[in-house]
Amino acid sequence: MSNANEKRLAGEAAIRYVEDGAIVGVGTGSTVAFFIDALADLKDRIQGAVSSSEQSTAHLKRLGIPVLDLNATGPLSLYVDGADECDPHKRLIKGGGAALTREKIVAQASQKFVCIIDSSKQVNLLGKFPLPIEVIPMARSLIGREIVKRGGNPVWRDGVVTDNGNWIIDVHGWQIADPVALETDLNQIPGIVSVGLFARRPADVVLVGDKLL
Ligand code: A5P
Repeated sequence: MSNANEKRLAGEAAIRYVEDGAIVGVGTGSTVAFFIDALADLKDRIQGAVSSSEQSTAHLKRLGIPVLDLNATGPLSLYVDGADECDPHKRLIKGGGAALTREKIVAQASQKFVCIIDSSKQVNLLGKFPLPIEVIPMARSLIGREIVKRGGNPVWRDGVVTDNGNWIIDVHGWQIADPVALETDLNQIPGIVSVGLFARRPADVVLVGDKLL
């Protein structure tokens, strides 16, 4: 079961990675919400944030933190985000909140990815949490068939439209022994926008509550 107190501790602990003058990459979700609240106390010491979702953008703006365009900022020094699962190698499943594509973009653009989780997210093998995949709507059935060929059970997250106007398929039943290989393979299927596996670019630092993994 997820633990709100550990999420708050993790969100607050991540503040120590924020340097004066930084532009901070900001993820999405209930753990990140605690980070954004804490970041507001430092808002006069940073240039602003690059956001990974409309939800986080609204939260940042509400607290007076400037939201900047990644095309204008260039590479970022720091990205802070939550996860749905984290293995001992800091490889992640993300996308429970449907924000995986922008999260992946901001993670890739950042030198250091600090992942903030509660202990319920720690696993030895990724895949118990259904793997979210963002797809171009017209490719949904094609991609579903490709997933079945690979032994997965695809479930359309009916009614959910991502910030990019696409759909989400959640894949059940995969025990992901080689996340880098699976991420690489799925990335080749036409119509897949992005896969919620963060294995090719894992987290650099994981905070479980206020403790380092
Ligand atoms: C959003 O799409 C996800 O990748 C989130 O990072 C993930 O779902 C974690 O969310 P919580 O912090 O709310 O558990």
